[in-house]
Amino acid sequence: MSHASPTTPAPEQTVDQRVADLLGRMTLIEKIGQMNQLNSDGPAVLDQLRHPIQAGHVGSVLNEVDVVLVNELQRIAVEESRLGIPLLIGRDVIHGFNTVMPIPLGQAATWNPAIVREGARVAALEAASSGVNWTFAPMMDLTRDPRWGRIAEGFGEDAHLASEMAVAMVRGFQGNNLADAGSIAACAKHFAAYGAVESGRDYATTNISEYELRNYYLRPFKAAIDAGVSTLMASFSDVNGVPATGNEFLMRKVLREEWAFEGFVVSDWDSVRQLIIHGLSEDDRDAALAAVTAGVNMEMVGQSYIHHLPALVEEGLVAEAMIDELVASILRVKFQLGLFENAYTNPSDLPPAGNPQALDTVRQAALQSVVLLKNEGRLLPLSPDKLNSVALIGPLADAPYEQLGTWIFDGNAQWSVTPRRALEERLDGQVEVHYVRAMDTSRSRVSPTFDDAVRAASEADVAILFLGEESILSGEAHSRANIDLPGDQAELVRRIRATGRPVIAVIQAGRALTLTNIVDEVDALLFAWHPGTMGGPAIADLLLGVDSPSGKLPVTFPRMVGQIPIYYNQKNTGKPPSHDTIVHIDDIDPFAPQTSLGMTAFHLDAGYTPLFPFGFGLSYGEFHYDNMRVATPEVPLGESLRASVELTNRGAVAAEEVVQLYVRDLVGNVTRPIKELKGFRRVRLAPGETTVVEFVVHTDELAFYDRHMRRVTEPGKFHVWIGGDSDTQLRADFRVVDILTDDQKP
Ligand code: NOJ
Repeated sequence: MSHASPTTPAPEQTVDQRVADLLGRMTLIEKIGQMNQLNSDGPAVLDQLRHPIQAGHVGSVLNEVDVVLVNELQRIAVEESRLGIPLLIGRDVIHGFNTVMPIPLGQAATWNPAIVREGARVAALEAASSGVNWTFAPMMDLTRDPRWGRIAEGFGEDAHLASEMAVAMVRGFQGNNLADAGSIAACAKHFAAYGAVESGRDYATTNISEYELRNYYLRPFKAAIDAGVSTLMASFSDVNGVPATGNEFLMRKVLREEWAFEGFVVSDWDSVRQLIIHGLSEDDRDAALAAVTAGVNMEMVGQSYIHHLPALVEEGLVAEAMIDELVASILRVKFQLGLFENAYTNPSDLPPAGNPQALDTVRQAALQSVVLLKNEGRLLPLSPDKLNSVALIGPLADAPYEQLGTWIFDGNAQWSVTPRRALEERLDGQVEVHYVRAMDTSRSRVSPTFDDAVRAASEADVAILFLGEESILSGEAHSRANIDLPGDQAELVRRIRATGRPVIAVIQAGRALTLTNIVDEVDALLFAWHPGTMGGPAIADLLLGVDSPSGKLPVTFPRMVGQIPIYYNQKNTGKPPSHDTIVHIDDIDPFAPQTSLGMTAFHLDAGYTPLFPFGFGLSYGEFHYDNMRVATPEVPLGESLRASVELTNRGAVAAEEVVQLYVRDLVGNVTRPIKELKGFRRVRLAPGETTVVEFVVHTDELAFYDRHMRRVTEPGKFHVWIGGDSDTQLRADFRVVDILTDDQKP
């Protein structure tokens, strides 16, 4: 295949010069063609797209992963279009390609950016060998609502944790250099505040103050941009009355003017024309005008740009200079990817999919993502020497496809190793394993198979229940209003409990669930999200103590749906609750007079605490935190807080702990959350080992947007906590002071 194109550069030209040179040679329709992304419907793609590509009317194709077809599409673009501009080939590579990592929410539970980055690298290499050069990931929408099905695709509720994870994923996809083989462009989505949709109903409206937007929802996007993410995707949702796809405030003011983003924005699927349905635009032409004016560079599938922008420019409603600017950003990414040098993919240049190293990465990620929520009487880990038989029960013990989770278009379920298979292999010849599925799906109702499960449990030394949600119950357009375990799973738990056997529940799910009705019915509880290809071996290792659980919750687990939104970094209110001020609904005196004296912010039937707090997760190690201190009680603006703690593992096994640092800014121009995560570190300690964990937090990291939307760090008093979850009480105080040091003095 020929790599030459009319745009082959003089090698000394910069990307910007090459973009300017190319743009100068493009007709208006060729420019608008770059802004047009079309979908592939499979083998018919060549027939369908040949002419538009030859005519220069297509800038990108999504959803084609047959490398032969992709190479042919590129050949048509490079050799048969007038200017030979190669295509961006987009795909939802969300948490793996053929080899699948845990869902992103599970990846966030690792609190380990290094493994997230490695996992994205694995995905990029596999996707790139199919000719994909652009993934629509990472999704970095913060959410405080586990009803929202897309919570599975993101990194949970915290801006700091999500920013670290988003940056790691961007770096994994994009590599050190976008032009390297196996690097693909990433896409920060969905811009913005999609995770705040009302009642977690997908695509619904979001109403968010600018304070919340800037101090919270926008932070991961800013972090991803600072890390060099190539593209952004506009959200489907309506943000404060202006749908994101037509939102100039977001895409012009914040993204371009304030953040100087140089990459490009793609709409979501047909979201330009959905501006009509939202009620922002009258027709396709009006929608194209709104989206382009707001700053959407490329339209995904709707074709209102290609059909209407030429006339809008000719009539003077859209300046050609605006089109030039929007197209330049698209071309820049194509140059950065090295597509003008070589648009073709030779899979043998890249490692084979599913290689041992890839499987090891996703296994490590799964291992670190599982959160131990309960371990009564230290039932776990199980020691095979002391067991004769175990019963494996439930719809998710042996469900190779389900353990992969949502958004796995290219995931290979045949490679999945299920918990059943892993445990049978590990225990073979030592412990008898009896498997009863009991429920066809997570939604099944009580049936005679429950009796088989009860019999198996009664005859075993221990019952391990594999419960949760199938992958289809989370993800896009799969929100739930009731987030209990679906179907009659709770009843199954109760019946197994009644056998008197020790009960372990391993839950796989795409969201936080309300586990109130089962938590007291089990002795041990492991929350495994959807753990991906190697979920089984990871879960088996944890059950059998080959390794210790070390995942920590990236989201708060509510007791009941009515508490939502419940999150750790809430405000104090003027009447904060405490154990002494709450009353349970059953204890209310019916004749008590109405008063507001001494009343505080809680629910009569749920109190004010969650079932499990953000950051929570138990271990087989026994971690103790002592001697917390700050290096200096005063931290001048522009310098760093140094806070440290002594961490000891007094347990009998080596284990990893995620040490977390939180702060509170006590007085501000606007009120600040009662706790905010500012740092975390994964530490491995041998039994009996002690280490000092130190955090360095620059005063800039304490900044927030004040009531005038200025980003400031205000001098004043702060609390700082270090511990193993957001409930930690281990605290020190410091003060940020506005003292100029000698070198800062004028
Ligand atoms: C719609 C989803 O909202 C988005 O996340 C995804 O990337 C596109 N469809 C393309 O599949």
